[in-house]
Amino acid sequence: MTERVGIGIVGAGLIVEHAHLPAYRSAGLTVCGLYDQDHARASRLAAEFGVQAYRSLDELVEDEGVHIVDCAVTPDAQENLVPQFLDAGKHVLCQKPLADSLDGARKLVERAHESGLKLAVNQQMRWEPTIQEMKRRLNDGRIGEPVLLTYRLNFMGEYPGPHWLNDLDRLFVRFGTIHFIDSARYLFGEPSRVTARLLRDKVQYAAGETFINAWIEWPNGATMVAFERYTCKTGDIECDIRLEGTRGAVTGRLGLYLDYPAPNADIIEAIQYGDPEWTLVSDTETWLPGAFAKPMLSLIDAIQTNGEPATSGRDNLRTLRIVEALYESDRLGRTVTLDAKE
Ligand SMILES: NC(=O)c1ccc[n+]([C@@H]2O[C@H](COP(=O)([O-])OP(=O)(O)OC[C@H]3O[C@@H](n4cnc5c(N)ncnc54)[C@H](O)[C@@H]3O)[C@@H](O)[C@H]2O)c1
Repeated sequence: MTERVGIGIVGAGLIVEHAHLPAYRSAGLTVCGLYDQDHARASRLAAEFGVQAYRSLDELVEDEGVHIVDCAVTPDAQENLVPQFLDAGKHVLCQKPLADSLDGARKLVERAHESGLKLAVNQQMRWEPTIQEMKRRLNDGRIGEPVLLTYRLNFMGEYPGPHWLNDLDRLFVRFGTIHFIDSARYLFGEPSRVTARLLRDKVQYAAGETFINAWIEWPNGATMVAFERYTCKTGDIECDIRLEGTRGAVTGRLGLYLDYPAPNADIIEAIQYGDPEWTLVSDTETWLPGAFAKPMLSLIDAIQTNGEPATSGRDNLRTLRIVEALYESDRLGRTVTLDAKE
């Protein structure tokens, strides 16, 4: 069934080359073609993956074989383009962050709702292999009650020299931590309080924050702690996540950060308290491109069943409000309580 749904991709950048196109090919999805304002780049990639390179955006949206537009451009462009895709009757898969502000994101979600079309966001970390292992062990009781989820990241994640990311005042909470927030929501549900301290490095290229310290708390007492630094110059990399519960724990080395965007596998280990040592669970599954077909498959399923995609735009508003609350906490210098009704 999924191969009957045609995908048109707008944007032929790094993530489309290394994640979207390989993942869709492995999943047997139908990509009709690509459009990028840099036509030479779109043509090269289209030839490599055996699809067409559209000469204009109009050509893509007028293609009746395209049911879903996979919008993978820079975020400022996304906010302007999505209404055009909806007006042309296309369902849309957006990238994170959905929009520059929570208000902007709400407008896109409402516009999709009014059009009767589906809008989803590519928050694919939910399907990341270590997160999936954590979810399995939460569901079957091996973790027990969740106590502490840690994301520890220290690597060179900024681009020296000209890059659109370097011009943004609000940076890695919106582009990095957002994945950790969304996957933690997937594991634990909606949190109640957030606290953050967001810093800049003395020698960073980027204008926005590159050193993030964040605490997120859930009503049941579970806590997430994120330590993220994107300016490490030592060459060695820390990229570990870990969930400790009342009965057992899971830890994963996130292969994605070892040589981004090369497809390195996670090393996942688990322990039940009382066991003599950690046991290897898996060392073959990748986040990139492995998880990248999943938001698209969920969107296709929602279109075919008239359901809600797992990472729908509406669901994403709850991830984005936590992003905004982290910035607010840093600005105010105190913990921010989230409205349980939102
Ligand atoms: N794990 C993830 O989910 C993940 C990882 C990386 C990037 N992303 C997201 O994917 C998007 C693209 O990131 P990237 O790393 O591929 O960036 P990139 O700079 O490599 O590519 C962006 C492409 O978009 C094209 N583009 C920009 N504006 C356009 C427009 N109006 N019309 C047509 N083409 C346009 C550019 O020419 C460029 O080829 C961003 O929103 C980013 O946040 C997500």
